[in-house]
Amino acid sequence: AFLDTVAKAAGKLYFGTATDNPELTDTAYTTILDQVAYFGQITPENSMKWDATEPEQGVFTFTEAQQIVSLAKSNGQIMRGHNCVWYNQLPSWVADGTFTEAELTEIIQTHCSTLVDAWDIINEPFNDDGTWRSDVFFNTLGESFVTIALEAAAAADPNAKLYINDYNIEFEGVKATAMMELVQSLKAAGTPIDGIGFESHFIVGEVPTDIQAIMEAFVSLGVEVAVTELDIRMTLPETDALLAQQKADYQTVISACNAVPGCVGVTIWDFTDEFSWIPGTFAGQGAACPWDDNLVKKPAYDGIIAGF
Ligand code: XIL
Repeated sequence: AFLDTVAKAAGKLYFGTATDNPELTDTAYTTILDQVAYFGQITPENSMKWDATEPEQGVFTFTEAQQIVSLAKSNGQIMRGHNCVWYNQLPSWVADGTFTEAELTEIIQTHCSTLVDAWDIINEPFNDDGTWRSDVFFNTLGESFVTIALEAAAAADPNAKLYINDYNIEFEGVKATAMMELVQSLKAAGTPIDGIGFESHFIVGEVPTDIQAIMEAFVSLGVEVAVTELDIRMTLPETDALLAQQKADYQTVISACNAVPGCVGVTIWDFTDEFSWIPGTFAGQGAACPWDDNLVKKPAYDGIIAGF
């Protein structure tokens, strides 16, 4: 069974994966990546972030982004743009800049309207305690940076699905509540907002039990949801028991999305442990993906299939 085929048969729009430009020279890897039956959707892991696309003010570089777009297009895979406004991977001219409100508004408008088509417009706006993250955007513009970016993106592409994407909103708590309140206030103001991305960087044995209920709560506010960056990490070394639990955990996440019509698709944050971001970010952890270091499918793969 193939991931995207099974997801579509279950009524989803796609099953997708993140990928990154340096990996594209590895033909054993691309042989799997290029199969639309596995992956109907692609997210660029880094090459559409602000530091990659507008390294200097007004100087846009789309060579690497275009490489991913072209690959997806030639494979017949849909794209998710990632991302437009995020406190991380900003070029220093933005991150360390001191701007008036008018200046930063124009900077966001130029950046978002040049980039955009489903898109993570706002990435990770909240702290884990549900307060706004203190970054150049919030500190200069307050919450209005969200509306400025969404409206600029909508003007650039009226057909794009515009998302706000975050982690630790996949379970009940202050951060999910803050995101729901943001959706409600954007809707009330008539600001374009189509969806909420559940990043879903989970830990084996700790997948939130209420993820389906939270998806339903967002959908009831009038937005779609998507699982945008799924991986399920473990403390190494991997064992048969951990791999079996990981299989069950992948199935839990997929089943939740599958049960909610407003959950439109699932994207894994790359498909192989060989290129996963986890070991580089969480010391001592890894083995988070459905294919192992040698591009061999793990039990997690069957967990995904079983979830649809
Ligand atoms: C990560 C990439 O996977 C890494 O290659 C990069 O070094 C840092 O960013 N949330 C997000 C993603 O929205 O953009 C992040 O991707 C992982 C966490």
